[in-house]
Amino acid sequence: MKYQNEINKRRTFAIISHPDAGKTTLTEKLLLFGGAIQVAGAVKSNKIKKFATSDFMEIERQRGISVATSVMTFEYKNILINLLDTPGHKDFAEDTFRTLTAVDSVILVIDSVNGVEEQTRRLMEVCRMRDTPVIVFVNKMDRDGKNRFDLLEEIEKELSIHLHPMTWPINSGKEFKGVYNLHDKSLRLFTANTKGNDEDVISINSLTDAVVDEKLGEKDAATLREDVELVDGVHGQLKVEDYLAAKVAPVFYGSAINNFGVKEMLDTFIRIAPLPQCRPTSVREVCPDEEKLSGFVFKIHANLDPKHRDRIAFMRVCSGKFERNKYYHHVRLDKDIRFSNPYSFMAREKSIVEDAFPGDVVGLFDTGNFKIGDTLTEGENFYFTGIPTFSPEIFKEVQNKDPMKTKQLEKGLLQLTDEGVAQLFTQHGGNKKIIGCVGELQFEVIQYRLLHEYGASVQFNTLPFYKACWITSDDQKKLDEFTRFKQANVGLDKDGHQVYLAQSEWFLNTERKNNPDIEFHFTSEVHKETA
Ligand code: G4P
Repeated sequence: MKYQNEINKRRTFAIISHPDAGKTTLTEKLLLFGGAIQVAGAVKSNKIKKFATSDFMEIERQRGISVATSVMTFEYKNILINLLDTPGHKDFAEDTFRTLTAVDSVILVIDSVNGVEEQTRRLMEVCRMRDTPVIVFVNKMDRDGKNRFDLLEEIEKELSIHLHPMTWPINSGKEFKGVYNLHDKSLRLFTANTKGNDEDVISINSLTDAVVDEKLGEKDAATLREDVELVDGVHGQLKVEDYLAAKVAPVFYGSAINNFGVKEMLDTFIRIAPLPQCRPTSVREVCPDEEKLSGFVFKIHANLDPKHRDRIAFMRVCSGKFERNKYYHHVRLDKDIRFSNPYSFMAREKSIVEDAFPGDVVGLFDTGNFKIGDTLTEGENFYFTGIPTFSPEIFKEVQNKDPMKTKQLEKGLLQLTDEGVAQLFTQHGGNKKIIGCVGELQFEVIQYRLLHEYGASVQFNTLPFYKACWITSDDQKKLDEFTRFKQANVGLDKDGHQVYLAQSEWFLNTERKNNPDIEFHFTSEVHKETA
């Protein structure tokens, strides 16, 4: 068992939410608790959402800022917490999905007024796919929200997860009086802008204590007693193993802006959240306490200076110890590389790091060696699985407006797609280049970056596809036949894997029915598993 002390100390997680639910505010409060920042307002939010689509300059500037907040490392009660940031804008959803592959758990923020929203659903789908343990923080209790029982039911139903309230709210909006902690049976009264001190906590022996009536008033005290009896009756004590198995999500109520309910959640988080976990690879399971280093790249960030095409690749360490200046094996390229200036992200400052342990994220200076999903080892050949490429939702053909710059264009497309900005497909039987993205915004970013970083001028023609499915078959002949007949709808992804581009769900279902020997996959994962 190597490095066990270091592993036990680490918790790596992400906060996810629909835009505006309070992710940035909660992040800031957590950093304040961790002493990583001194004043409120210090976290530059990843607020791409506040800008119109055409403000891509602003978006790029903000993405630059977000490098610094991509990973926030802080210490709280001797636990080293790595908080991985996820972009708020839905057009960068794929970025978020990939970041979720690098964490061991998540905190999901839900706005008590709006309940479950579109992005909440999509993000939870990814968590469910990976069985990621989730803690729910119901935010904005200082606003008139939904009925607390209705909201619980809505979250359970819409997100297909069992909830386990850890605290219970006393009213909401102007009448919000605080929370009752079902775990340690204490009462926490709400005052705006609390510093999260222990002094506001009232310990009680039982809810029948007269002090409860005194503090809450008889009516609210009676309601609380009724609610708690009901909730306790249904849920009992939290079984931590059910949370770790992603079967149950503990729920906390609070108001991030008022720093209320945050400390309870953080204290529980460090008590129950999973340590760095073992992870599946194409060959075997790799566990954090192994002696040899392994890790994978889940995010690549380009330098904003167009004169320098260097990038930062974010690698999650999965096993062993990462050391500066040591040679590691880049599995895909089959070559050994060392890093003289790896970054860590302690206290939001980028600083050069000498070593890193499982659960940590290191920023590797990259001149074009990395793409998303790349694995570093100490010699063994495997890939971490579960880092899927999802199907894009908007497809456009790339048209080169300047034939003199064809080479630059090809290079730019390859590098941008390595970064995961978009996916690139080449149509069968021609050389049509198709870009697939999750949101319109990325097309603007690509167009802008191709011009400013590579000198290539392009225009996009929208194509009538709605999904890309990776196709495989045990019967190569059948696959070849399908490809021949469906030339206009079949292409190759960047790794040369065959992809069927479907015009609509109807077409996709029809092809599935007509071609029972061919399998249609919504992620590219299938190819990694066999790599
Ligand atoms: P996001 O990162 O999830 O997109 O959300 P963010 O934290 O930026 O919060 C969105 C808005 O909700 C912000 O207001 C923020 O102040 C507010 N907010 C966060 N937590 C609470 C809470 O507990 N109660 C109430 N009432 N509001 C909360 P804004 O006006 O959009 O931004 P700002 O001008 O305050 O920065």
